[in-house]
This record gives sequence, C-alpha cells and structure tokens, in this order.
Amino acid sequence: MRKILLLIGLASTKLLPAQNTIVLNADKGKDIIDKNIYGHFAEHLGRCIYGGFYVGDTNKTIPHKDGVRLDVIEALKKLKVPVLRWPGGCFADTYHWKDGVGPKKERPSMLNVWWGNVKEDNSFGTNEFLNMCELLGAEPYLSGNVGSGTPQELSDWIKYTTHPNGSSPMTDWRQKNGRPNPWKVKFWGLGNEAWGCGGNMKVEYYANVYRQYATFMTNWNNSDRLYRIASGASDADYHWTEILMKEVPANMFDALGLHHYSVINWSKKGSATNFSEEEYFTTMKRALQMEELVSKHSAIMDKYDPQKKKHLAVDEWGGWYDVEPGTNGAFLYQQNTMRDAVLAGATLNIFNNHCDRVKMANLAQIINVLQAVILTKEEKLVLTPTYHVMEMYNVHHDATMLPVDVSSNKYILGKDTLSSIWASASKDKNGATHISLVNVDAKQPQAVSININGANYKTVSGRILTSDKLQNYNSFESPAKIVPAAFTKAQLTTSKLNLTIPPFSVIVLELK
Ligand code: AHR
Repeated sequence: MRKILLLIGLASTKLLPAQNTIVLNADKGKDIIDKNIYGHFAEHLGRCIYGGFYVGDTNKTIPHKDGVRLDVIEALKKLKVPVLRWPGGCFADTYHWKDGVGPKKERPSMLNVWWGNVKEDNSFGTNEFLNMCELLGAEPYLSGNVGSGTPQELSDWIKYTTHPNGSSPMTDWRQKNGRPNPWKVKFWGLGNEAWGCGGNMKVEYYANVYRQYATFMTNWNNSDRLYRIASGASDADYHWTEILMKEVPANMFDALGLHHYSVINWSKKGSATNFSEEEYFTTMKRALQMEELVSKHSAIMDKYDPQKKKHLAVDEWGGWYDVEPGTNGAFLYQQNTMRDAVLAGATLNIFNNHCDRVKMANLAQIINVLQAVILTKEEKLVLTPTYHVMEMYNVHHDATMLPVDVSSNKYILGKDTLSSIWASASKDKNGATHISLVNVDAKQPQAVSININGANYKTVSGRILTSDKLQNYNSFESPAKIVPAAFTKAQLTTSKLNLTIPPFSVIVLELK
C-alpha cells in the first residue's frame, strides 16, 4: 500500500509543471523603452479611415470634429497613441498627396487599386490626418510614395507640411488651405515594402533609389531634423538589411523598417474566432519568431553600427486571419480574441527587451483592419482585447527597461514546444517598477517565482486580462466580455514575488 501511495505521489509530482523562474535585475536598467514601440498604423484600406476614423464633416448621426469620430479619439487618447503611420501600406505607393488637399469638392476621385478597387474620394487627406494627430496627441509618420511617385512630390510634401509660412509656393498653398503654421512631422518613410507592392525592387536597386529620394528630403531647420525610415525587410530577409546597411550612407537614414505578420498559412489563414488549439499554437509560433527576427536583423546592423545609432522600426506587425464571413475580402476586417491579446502581450515584451535597437513599432492596423484595437459598426464602437493589452502596457512608455532572465516551462503541443512565459520589466520616471507577464500556454496555469535583485519593494498591485475561452472576443452585442480586472494574487516577500498566471492570460504588476 505504501509503495502504491509513493508511486501515485511520484506520478502526480511529475504531472505538475515545474515552477517558472524569473530574475528581475532592478538595478541594471540602461536603455529607455521608446514609447513609439507602442505605435499604430492607419491605411486607406477597408474601413480603417472611412467609417473608422472619418465619417465626413457633414455627418449628422455620429458625433465628430471636422469629420473625425469623437468616440474613437476618446478611446485612443486613453491608449496614449504615441505615433501613427499613414496613408499605407501598399496604398502609400499609389498615393499622390496633392489629390488630397484643398477644397474637398475639387479633389479628384480615384480607385483604391490595392484594396478592392473601391472609390477613394480623397476627402481625408494631409490636413485632415495631421490635424487629427494633433487632436490625438500622436506624432504622425508619413509614408512617402517611392514606388510610383517622384522625389519632387515627396520633397513638396515635406515643404507643405513642415516648412515655415511664406517660404515657398507649397507653404502658400498650405496657408490657402487654412493652415498657416507647419505641423510637426518628424517621421518619414521612403516607400513601403519596396520588395513587393512598393515596386518589386531588388534591394541593390532600392538602395540607390532610396539615396536619390533621401537627398531631396530637407528640413528648413536642422535642430528639428527629419527622421528617415527605409522600407525594410520582410520577415527573415537578412540580405535586405545587410545591403541597406552597407549601401546607404549613415547620414541618410535613421531607421530600417521590418514587417512581420503572424500568419498560419497565406493560402489558408483560418478563422479569427473559430480556431483550434493547433491553429493557436501556429499563430503563436509565428508571433514569437519576432524574438529571432529582431535579434538577427539587429546583429547585422551591429556590424555596421555597433553603437546602435540606427534603429529598427517594426512598422507592420500583428495577426492576420481570414476576413469575417460576409465582409469584403479586400477589407481585411477580422475579429480579435484572447489569442490576439496573448500575441500582443508577448510581442510587446520582445520589443521592450530589445529597446536598445527597436525604437518604433506599428501594430497593423488601428481600426477595423487586421489586429485592430477598435472595431466600429455605424455609431457603435468596440475595444478589442488587443486594445486592453496596449492600455495595460502604457506604463512602459519611455520607462527604463530592466533586464529579466526568464527560465520558462514548455508549452507542448504534439512534438512541438514554445516557451510558456514571456516577460519584460521597466522602471518609470516616478520610481515605480512594472513587470508584464504573458502565459502563452493554452491549457496550463503557470506558477512563476520572481527573484528580485537590486531593489526592496514594499507593495505589489496588478491587473489581469483573461477569459474562460481562448476564442472569446468583445462584440457589438457584448462589448465588455473581456476587460482588465484587478489582480491581487501576487505574493511579495523581501526579495521574491510569487504568482500563478492562468492559461492564455496577460498580467501587468506594479511594484513600489
Ligand atoms: O497591412 C496590410 C498590408 O500588409 C499593407 O498594406 C502592406 O504593407 C502589407 O503587406
């Protein structure tokens, strides 16, 4: 009998996952987590701009300011959106900005050839976008047309938006359009996906085109320099990064882009809400590849720029699934579940931990497209689980990153494994420390023991985003199914913090 009990005891100990351990190096902070890592992306695609941000300045049913939805502005202000990339995406390399300024009734219409051939009436253009950024308190990031534009067109855009009043025909035009003073536009992209929809260029060719365009991008004021971002690699195209670092002179760029989507299979992406654990696992595997991508692209940049003066801007990232049934296939409208919350939390932890090189990232896309933080339907608005993760992680904006050493259990599915626990930490300007933790495991809660080095915390508080089903989401009928809740189960002793993270959940703790 004793033997049987012993065997049962041994078996059950074996079944229990070992405890995950994290070392929080509270005294080793060096690099700042640039708040622009929490950036967003808005393209003239589907209902991101029209119906998402902009409902028209004559709209009588939805409250707006100059056509921009006030409910959206209010929600995004809470998110503290630091930077917003516009007008694309693939759309950017077809966009001629001069079509989108001046009296609306005189603006030409065109077909949006990338996204469903729908009519683009140019009613939302440069003035509307830049005024909206001011309303939001976000910095604009303009994506210039290099694929089908000209250096002159891009140079004129810079004059129109940033040069002092009265300095050129472009600034006279701006004044005539109701805006005498320049906006602040620091971030400029030179083309988008130059290897694909931006012109199908080879990188050796694009490097030359880049140099040509960059030459004519001048500011009037050197102390308020432009920040130039080259169209970067797709996923693991390390050759692209190598050639740009080699061929573009250091004084001609500030950052290289990088695009990576978490797609199960481009020809069979799967439903955004009705997915299996296998599909979840594959999505997460793709998402967590970000760790390797950022490390390897950064290592290439290190060869040319060991001091990390040049940055990586992951200016498109997120989950990509099949569109919602019954919606236009070209509009990329998808729901957003706990899978997306886990994806966002883990990815943002990766960016935080690489903040010495990653200075900007832009989730694709902000409203009604791909991994959106907001969904709209006429006058209704829903905040997605991804919104809540972004809001919970606000505490990391411009805080000092504290390195964490994570030793994680494996989330096992079939023959494949992923690390269950993904974490990052920072210390804010008021001295509070925040640690964000994600349990990727779809089934097992994970016990985590955090060893604290170099600090003596007295209190811990926290918030959790969790739900009883991975496939749960917020809908127009049930918009608050998934919202952050207080998390009171973390136990703090002098140098240790213990907690258990439920499956597919995100927690942010505050230590003081
Ligand atoms: O975000 C949707 C599209 O994905 C963008 O327009 C393009 O840059 C990328 O391929």
